[in-house]
Amino acid sequence: MESPDLARMRETYARDGLDESQAGDDPLHLFGRWLDDAVSSQIHEPNAMALATATPDGRPSVRIVLLKGIDDSGMTFYTNYESRKGHELEANPRAAAAMLWHPLQRQVRVEGPVTRIADEDSDAYFHSRPHGSQLGALASPQSTVIADRSALVAYYADAARAYGDGEVPRPAYWGGYRIELESIEFWQGRESRLHDRLRYVRAGSAWTRERLAP
Ligand SMILES: Cc1cc2nc3c(=O)[nH]c(=O)nc-3n(C[C@H](O)[C@H](O)[C@H](O)COP(=O)(O)O)c2cc1C
Repeated sequence: MESPDLARMRETYARDGLDESQAGDDPLHLFGRWLDDAVSSQIHEPNAMALATATPDGRPSVRIVLLKGIDDSGMTFYTNYESRKGHELEANPRAAAAMLWHPLQRQVRVEGPVTRIADEDSDAYFHSRPHGSQLGALASPQSTVIADRSALVAYYADAARAYGDGEVPRPAYWGGYRIELESIEFWQGRESRLHDRLRYVRAGSAWTRERLAP
């Protein structure tokens, strides 16, 4: 089988630019505009982001999660607190995340400390999810080794038997984390690899904006 020639794969980036006057002083406002663009461009799961965590001795790991909220206090996602990422965040409560809106030739990167959100907020989100997803969260010992697929199906069946169509209590091991935004960078692909990169860094209650070389 002939494999694709990775070395010859290249894309021209020339869709758009990002200058300081367009970007403005408020990165959350800019993020909102870019997210709207991603939604109106019908990008599939525009809220998907790669989330990087690390052990205290600096071994990184990365996976996709879904962004479920963003405001001045940070970016929220939901997961199993006892998963690999959960353990890493409890021991080393910092994360970085990147979102790719490829058809728009845009990337957003954030970094900052991570905290659990309030239990009431996790409850509210958990109960807004489809019933099957609630049972799935309850049933899955995320990131642990399991014997086979049938073991997982059996855990789910146990949860379904216990709760039927009734309300599923949010398990204590499942909930939200918030990444407090210390920095947020917007990348717009440009011609000849002269991409635009604007990074906002939190300075107290305000932001400073700086341009990075691509
Ligand atoms: C598109 C997509 C969205 C996902 N969203 C989430 C999510 O919001 N929360 C989550 O815990 N896992 C999500 N996952 C699964 C994670 O990528 C990962 O497999 C899981 O969280 C276990 O990661 P860990 O073992 O590093 O903790 C998603 C995966 C994909 C591909």
